Amino acid sequence: MDDRTSIAPPCAGLRIGDVAPDFEARSTIGPIRLSAYRGRWLILFSHPADFTPVCTTEFVALAREAAAFDARDCALMALSVDSLFSHFAWLRMIRDRFSIEVRFPIVEDPTLVIGRAFGMVSAQDNDSATVRTTFFVDPKGVIRAMTCYPANLGRSVPEMLRILDGLQAIDAHGALAPANWQQGDPLLKAPTDDLDEVFAASDATGWFLRDMGGEN
Ligand code: BEZ
Repeated sequence: MDDRTSIAPPCAGLRIGDVAPDFEARSTIGPIRLSAYRGRWLILFSHPADFTPVCTTEFVALAREAAAFDARDCALMALSVDSLFSHFAWLRMIRDRFSIEVRFPIVEDPTLVIGRAFGMVSAQDNDSATVRTTFFVDPKGVIRAMTCYPANLGRSVPEMLRILDGLQAIDAHGALAPANWQQGDPLLKAPTDDLDEVFAASDATGWFLRDMGGEN
């Protein structure tokens, strides 16, 4: 049996709050450097391989929603171990079959240097394919959220947009986003750290579980 208990899972290397490691690489839009995206939001995501079914559906879905990411001042950047010419051939196939042009960059990472730096592949893993990791990087270059899905489960583009909306709303209002929060829903106020406010609250939860009201 494959005992993987001692192997660090992908996504384990970096934590929320870390600065995203910088890199320079070839991509489908030319050479790019991660730090050049400072000042904008960035979603950096890996996919296991070009020309695979689930990945193809993800790229079609993301390309169809490209304007929604743009409207939120968020760039998309994909990455896999496949070569630049594989990326080109795949994008051409997607254009011809699905009538959509993928215009966000896909980085080539044949040596796994970037994938390893981001924990997209385990250092001990023999399989060079990256899993479906997604890093939400804020305009200062800080990782604010990350998700990790297996190869056989595609990401949800609405959930990617919801995470981005939530992070942007939290920052704009200094607030908290509750369970199932969607753009336009009320945000929550951070709990008080003042005992007088705890005792002054009109009910037992009013000091820690309260809407922002008209403040967002
Ligand atoms: C896919 O995208 O369909 C896929 C990729 C790698 C392994 C399994 C499925």
